[in-house]
Amino acid sequence: MSSQVYAGPYGAEPRHPGWPARLGPLLVPAGRLELRPIRLRDAADWSRIRLRDRAYLEEWEPTATGPWGDRNARWSWPPQCMSLRSLARRGQCLPFAITVDGEFAGQITVGNIIRASLRSAWVGYWVSSKLAGRGVATAAVALVTDHAFTAAGLHRLEATVRPENAASVRVLTKAGYRQEGLFLRYLDVAGAWRDHLSFAITAEETGKGVVARLVAEGLAQRPEQR
Ligand SMILES: CC(C)(COP(=O)(O)OP(=O)(O)OC[C@H]1O[C@@H](n2cnc3c(N)ncnc32)[C@H](O)[C@@H]1OP(=O)(O)O)[C@@H](O)C(=O)NCCC(=O)NCCS
Repeated sequence: MSSQVYAGPYGAEPRHPGWPARLGPLLVPAGRLELRPIRLRDAADWSRIRLRDRAYLEEWEPTATGPWGDRNARWSWPPQCMSLRSLARRGQCLPFAITVDGEFAGQITVGNIIRASLRSAWVGYWVSSKLAGRGVATAAVALVTDHAFTAAGLHRLEATVRPENAASVRVLTKAGYRQEGLFLRYLDVAGAWRDHLSFAITAEETGKGVVARLVAEGLAQRPEQR
């Protein structure tokens, strides 16, 4: 009997398929949106936005130890950035910076990548409050979803969101994610155990791609269409 390990329909997989990568550009109401690997020199922009946006972000992010000011100080970025990039080199996550017109505007991460016969991961994101409601998160989710199901060789993406987070529920719905269930007291967010809706999408559901659908619906444009 053969002792070969099943490597999936993609054959022998590279160590970190789909990484590093630059995704986009796409034109959205906020400007020209691209995704690129996070980098150490994002520290100043990352910290400035997150210190300013505490009230807007903290309500939705997992509880962590230490004051917000310390956790989001400029000097807190290098260890986080290096840890995420190290996971990316091992094929366990895809940590992107979102840029709009070349400026750092937030993060989108595909995390906890499991391969073999599951080929699944979660997606998480935040966007600067200054750009809210102008199509940034939806386009970013569309770009990483298509990338995850092509270059990164994944089959399923999941996202969990508090039912009260109407903006994020809307982002996932626009990007074609399905609501699958409700996880009770799922995650410690803003100091308490919070229920979360679970959303998911599988490769079969994306047809010609999530970006192509957004473009067809007029929610984003490819630059060459201008
Ligand atoms: C959630 C978040 C990423 C959305 O980013 P964004 O770039 O503003 O998202 P988009 O512009 O692509 O789409 C937002 C949609 O939500 C809608 N929306 C925003 N606030 C809303 C509200 N209070 N109620 C209902 N809909 C709302 C917008 O109108 C838009 O929908 P539309 O295009 O149909 O008009 C951003 O608000 C954020 O970073 N929040 C804090 C962190 C967070 O919640 N992260 C996600 C955790 S699951």
